[in-house]
Amino acid sequence: MGQAKMLPGLCPDKVKANDYQWKLRAGNGKWWRVFWHPSNNEEVSLPVTGPDAIFLETERMYFRRFRVEDAEVLFELDNEPAVMRFISQGQPTPLSQIQNEIIPRCFDQYQQTPPRGFWAAHLRDDDEFIGWFHLRPDRISPGEMELGYRLKRSVWGRGLATEGARALLKRALGEWGYAKVCARTRAGHLASRRVMEKAGLTFEAEFFYGENVLPGWTEAERRAVKYSTRSGPASRIFEVPGENRAATIGS
Ligand SMILES: CC(C)(COP(=O)(O)OP(=O)(O)OC[C@H]1O[C@@H](n2cnc3c(N)ncnc32)[C@H](O)[C@@H]1OP(=O)(O)O)[C@@H](O)C(=O)NCCC(=O)NCCS
Repeated sequence: MGQAKMLPGLCPDKVKANDYQWKLRAGNGKWWRVFWHPSNNEEVSLPVTGPDAIFLETERMYFRRFRVEDAEVLFELDNEPAVMRFISQGQPTPLSQIQNEIIPRCFDQYQQTPPRGFWAAHLRDDDEFIGWFHLRPDRISPGEMELGYRLKRSVWGRGLATEGARALLKRALGEWGYAKVCARTRAGHLASRRVMEKAGLTFEAEFFYGENVLPGWTEAERRAVKYSTRSGPASRIFEVPGENRAATIGS
């Protein structure tokens, strides 16, 4: 549920626009932002369009593009040492880096076709922001697309990373036409490796991240693995539950 900041044409003099609450709801093949005021519960629905549109829907989540104002939630996500254990040895990402580098990079990627980028993931049940998924050119083999995910500690172990990874893989190798998708992680990150396997990727190679990528890490800590899958008959993408009613709405 969100707090409406601006409600053009709907804000009577007697109530402040900021007092409206809103919730996302699917209907007629679109997503709607349903506004109501707690004093009278009267509802008004507006279609969600433009950059705020739901990008992709899974059984329990929806993905949307990041916005400038998401810097705080991204900061909170990376501020949890367990979340960053295999990424930065538990170190948080500075807010300034999120504001000045990470979010602007997301915007650049949103301009490209077929889709690529980082998408915010929310639970469909209550709209909670739970983390993100990405599909971007692989930094080591740029001809391949790299899948990634980062979720809040509180939602781990419910199959959400696998669900999101499968949905992105299915589109990446299907309607978006990418030939190969890979994923990389530290060798000891068993949960992430398991997500890759459950999503249909297979082990491809072991490698070491360079010292320039992980400065100050020992060689053992830089040991990593790559998993991958290709489009076509050999692809092992597993069934996406609820996929028959999922749709890509907007992009
Ligand atoms: C990795 C991560 C995305 C997994 O998310 P999740 O929603 O819990 O993943 P899922 O529930 O879909 O699957 C996790 C699987 O790993 C298994 N697992 C979890 N911890 C494990 C461990 N220490 N050893 C072996 N398997 C483990 C789970 O049992 C589950 O497999 P199962 O369904 O066969 O039982 C989540 O832990 C996360 O966001 N971590 C922080 C960010 C991160 O490290 N991202 C990946 C960077 S490469």
